[in-house]
Amino acid sequence: MLGDNSIAILPAAPERTRSRDVEHPYRSDSDFYYLTGFPEPEAIAVLIPGRKQGQFVLFCRERDPEMETWNGRRAGLDGAKDDYGADDAFPFSDVDDILPGLMENKERVFYSMGTHPDLDSHMIEWLNRVRKKARAGVHAPGEFVSLDHLLHEMRLIKSTAEIQAMKKAAKVSAEGHCRAMQACQPGLMEYQIEAVLLHYFMTHGCRHSAYPSIVGGGENGCILHYTENEAELQDGDLLLIDAGGEHDNYAADITRTFPVNGKFSVAQRALYEVVLAAQQAAINKVQPGNHWNEPHQAAVKVLTKGLIKLGILKGTPGKLIKEEAYRRFYMHRTGHWLGMDVHDVGDYKVDNEWREFEPGMVLTVEPGLYIAPGSKGVAKKWQGIGIRIEDDVRVTRTGHEVLTSAVPKEVDQIEALMAGEKLVAKKKVAKKKHKI
Ligand code: GLY
Ligand code: MN
Ligand code: MN
Repeated sequence: MLGDNSIAILPAAPERTRSRDVEHPYRSDSDFYYLTGFPEPEAIAVLIPGRKQGQFVLFCRERDPEMETWNGRRAGLDGAKDDYGADDAFPFSDVDDILPGLMENKERVFYSMGTHPDLDSHMIEWLNRVRKKARAGVHAPGEFVSLDHLLHEMRLIKSTAEIQAMKKAAKVSAEGHCRAMQACQPGLMEYQIEAVLLHYFMTHGCRHSAYPSIVGGGENGCILHYTENEAELQDGDLLLIDAGGEHDNYAADITRTFPVNGKFSVAQRALYEVVLAAQQAAINKVQPGNHWNEPHQAAVKVLTKGLIKLGILKGTPGKLIKEEAYRRFYMHRTGHWLGMDVHDVGDYKVDNEWREFEPGMVLTVEPGLYIAPGSKGVAKKWQGIGIRIEDDVRVTRTGHEVLTSAVPKEVDQIEALMAGEKLVAKKKVAKKKHKI
């Protein structure tokens, strides 16, 4: 796809400082990892179609017994070739000397400018070095092209191996959510439930979470990206959990909302049933040939009708949908692509039209309703209720497959699961003494 006379340059993600000399756990750049499987920082992959000595060149750290004693093992140049399939491997420290030479006489450089700002200035310097050789008959590349379009279309359609990794992440995450339901009871802290999820993920094949877990009791469920998770769970509230594990760099993304005490109140149940019906209507629209926006349109229709029925919106469905009256209570879209990144790559429109679903795509379906405390004109009984239900759905040749169905979402099923023996004994945990 790159064509002759091209070169593609993909850097690994840099390490990131957490504070002072402590770093965040390292996670590869998804584009880099997708093409190389190489898990270390300080690496650059270079693809050179037609290069006689080999088309895949990897710059990486050299073996170094002392550094490896302190900071961990390295594949080294031999490992890059033997274990990761590089045709040629060079030391990362030599990239400045070698890379400009690889760019000579190429027409096109595929490089995603702006994604790795530290490297952008080097790219310009390397290009200028090649340009200076014009009088020696060296031709400098004339075009810089983002690799995103080609690569992200590839990432959007998952292979059998990728689906397997996603199924594993989905299964473990679904089971983790079941554990969280079984553990939940009034008086626990939100982060104690987070601990149940993380423990399950890590002991069942997901070394990391795919994103920071959202564990929001009561009105915290109305904050879309609530990640403090530091409040005490109250009898009578709902708990919204949005959490997923990552397996071999592939994400799961699941949300469930359930009662802290195991029993939905009448108001909670009424609102929950609306979201559940909206989610089911949206999932039914995930079919090859349907377009990206159909699940969202289906969800909006059911949510709007439900809000009218409960007296939260007043008017006719057609007019309210046109006016987007639901947006007060449903302010996000119904899903996103899912893959190596939780909000995965891939265009949503093609030639300005919503794109059609194709087998191998994976997306989330996640409608919600969030009735913030103090919502004007809304009866008190609805206020402070936040509900989202999210599953991961694969488009198949004939329809779809829900990858996360192992965690219940029907009211009766949730209540039955929560009625069993509690998994976590209630015990007091130290609360923060100092408020800032
Ligand atoms: N967990 C992020 C999302 O649901 O989009
Ligand atoms: Mn999501
Ligand atoms: Mn989510």
